Amino acid sequence: MNTSVFTKNIKITYFRPMETVVSGIRSTGNLHLGNYYGAIQNFVKMQHEYNCYFFIADLHSLTTHPTPADLHGNVKQVLIEYLAAGIDPEKSTIYVQSDVPEVAELYLYLNMNAYLGELERSTSFKDKVRTQPDNVNAGLLTYPVLMAADIIIHKAVKVPVGKDQEQHLEMSRTFANRFNRLYNTEYFPEPYAFNFSENLVKIPGLDGKGKMGKSEGEGNAVYLSDSPEVIRKKVMKAVTDSGPTTENQEKPDEIQNLFDLMKVVSAPDTYKHFDDLYNSCQIRYGDLKKQLGEDIIVATSPIRDRIKDISTDPSYLRQVARHGAIKARESAARTIKEVREIIGFRNF
Ligand code: TRP
Repeated sequence: MNTSVFTKNIKITYFRPMETVVSGIRSTGNLHLGNYYGAIQNFVKMQHEYNCYFFIADLHSLTTHPTPADLHGNVKQVLIEYLAAGIDPEKSTIYVQSDVPEVAELYLYLNMNAYLGELERSTSFKDKVRTQPDNVNAGLLTYPVLMAADIIIHKAVKVPVGKDQEQHLEMSRTFANRFNRLYNTEYFPEPYAFNFSENLVKIPGLDGKGKMGKSEGEGNAVYLSDSPEVIRKKVMKAVTDSGPTTENQEKPDEIQNLFDLMKVVSAPDTYKHFDDLYNSCQIRYGDLKKQLGEDIIVATSPIRDRIKDISTDPSYLRQVARHGAIKARESAARTIKEVREIIGFRNF
């Protein structure tokens, strides 16, 4: 917060410089409730307190060789859904990674000090080697270097990402520090993972197992762009058991999951109503699911409406992407100019 001190008639305002937040979003298909309640809702709140950059990581997605049409379609869809979910282009800088070539330039410089051994040890790289042995390209190997470039190009210190990205962030700190040490400067600050809220909500999937996710199979995830009919169908198909047999018994995972979802989208009274029914062994899962489906539909309807509106407004999308690219490039170009000087690229 800025504090004001009044001295006679003169108002002096001390500004606390806003810290910079960066997060990248992979352009791989539609957003689901887990993305929304687990991450985007937080981004939306952060916009007021931080200097936020949210970008669509289309360069990263080239490791899997998408067709030009798929690449473009996915980037557009992510942009539409982020805007629909409340990321405000007036407050945050929203941009497409490939619109900022300075990122690729910094990536090149950082690659000179990233070593094969450490890159091969990254768990995400090892996973890819296992799951796609026919496509272990150099872009995959240096994925963490590109991610470091994404972050430090804006000198960001806070990076809102999930637990699975911790190792990548640690590598970002390593690359930033190594650059600093090599050139005997303190130019790049260290970026850290950032949880804006104390307890991030984990959204379970509908398959009775773990969290909601794209890769867990059709039907496990409810997408923000799903129509009410599709949402109803998916929720009615959610896995349940044969019902409680003793009062106040602990809920098995698949039932707890439905209650966890209900906690997020339904009114507290509704939650209590079904919780009481469960505890007194009178619950009918069909009723629970019907209610849950309707409440998901209501909770997501403003986003669904905005997705529809924005999708039919290509000139707005173009404007947002252009404006974001200009703002992001301003910041990135400043860094690259200084980095070039530090490295020793100078005019004759
Ligand atoms: N690796 C991130 C993911 O898989 C996406 C990403 C790319 C990112 N560059 C980033 C996240 C920079 C935060 C900051 O989700």
